[in-house]
Amino acid sequence: MKPLVVDKDRLQCEIDEFALITEAAPPVVTRVLFSEADLRGRNYVKERCTDAGLTLRTDAVGNMFARWHGTSRQLPAIATGSHIDAIPNAGKYDGVVGVLGAIEAIRTLQTAGFQPRRSIELIIFTSEEPTRFGIGCLGSRLLGGVLSLERAAALRDRYGKDLEFWRKQGGCPGPLDSVKLAKDSYAAFVELHIEQGPVLEAEKLDIGVVEKIAAPSTLRIQLTGVGGHAGATLMPGRRDALLAGAEITLAVEQAATTTGSPDTVGTTGILRIEPGAVNSVPYKAYLEIDLRDTSVKTRDAALHQIEAAIIEICTRRKIEFTMERLNVDPPAICDAKLVETVAGIASGLDFSVKKMISRAYHDSLFMAQVCPTTMIFIPCFKGYSHRPDEFSSPEQIEKGVRVLAETFAQLAK
Ligand code: GLV
Ligand code: MN
Ligand code: MN
Repeated sequence: MKPLVVDKDRLQCEIDEFALITEAAPPVVTRVLFSEADLRGRNYVKERCTDAGLTLRTDAVGNMFARWHGTSRQLPAIATGSHIDAIPNAGKYDGVVGVLGAIEAIRTLQTAGFQPRRSIELIIFTSEEPTRFGIGCLGSRLLGGVLSLERAAALRDRYGKDLEFWRKQGGCPGPLDSVKLAKDSYAAFVELHIEQGPVLEAEKLDIGVVEKIAAPSTLRIQLTGVGGHAGATLMPGRRDALLAGAEITLAVEQAATTTGSPDTVGTTGILRIEPGAVNSVPYKAYLEIDLRDTSVKTRDAALHQIEAAIIEICTRRKIEFTMERLNVDPPAICDAKLVETVAGIASGLDFSVKKMISRAYHDSLFMAQVCPTTMIFIPCFKGYSHRPDEFSSPEQIEKGVRVLAETFAQLAK
């Protein structure tokens, strides 16, 4: 095999072009699952995969698979992948670097004349982001068999549309029970991603290799109070749903800052009220709360504290409520041997490397249930992510792609 040369300019052109596929005005990227932008994005990726000679398949929840067949087709493949959906007001690198970067890694190997023995498969996961249904990693949860078909069928978006509706919209073939991966489908899974945190940049490091992914959880709260005229409804006896919601957001902050662990993080990322008129007392409030920690013990302690606070606040304010745990996941422990392999490959290329924790979640959280898994992190500007000024340089991305390509070469040979 000739030396591997990543075409960083071609990849950067593709990342820039892909960022124009958005529901919002550039530079803002928004690509919600099965929106028109998401469907266009899927087509863009499919074209690049076809150009690279990869064999495409889509499963019943819209996960896309692009396979470079190895000479020993019967062997479990080496998998990689990430997502192309983007939360509202996102940037252009989250997920996309792991998808377009993986295609570039494959093209790099092809140009060098590498012929894999094991197949190499890129997975573009459905709805890593929770925007549509409130739950993240929908595609990988189903691949890993972690989400029951009943719970999947019960998912609704904010307009009441279910997964079945959106699956049809997305042209996903077959029944949902065909999504779960067979045992031994993959020999390994390695996801390339921007760090989404400040560590690599601050320590001037090229590459992070992920040893553990923090444990996420999400709560959905619906509050019903009593509305009325803002002028004529006197303050005593009001049952204002927003005020209960506002107290809940403070209870989330209180819980997340008092576990004794700096790793507990709590965020109320969604708070919507009805009727949403300045001269009307809010009679409904809808909240989604994101709570995470590297340790389940402190995450769960905070979760219980928040749930207790919700009951107390709503009882005191005479607010009816429903409280639903959308997901409460354990952390993922990455495969120690695979971590060593990838870290060794990166150091062998003279890149500076750190083994680290991922505080963000990824489809790797659930792929780790299926096969040995790790992630390759690259630095990003000030750790910014989930915002339009998210940035990694072409040179930083190039190093990540190089490590991914060398990893394929080593694992698939
Ligand atoms: C992924 O997008 C996350 O929220 O960690
Ligand atoms: Mn994200
Ligand atoms: Mn991501």
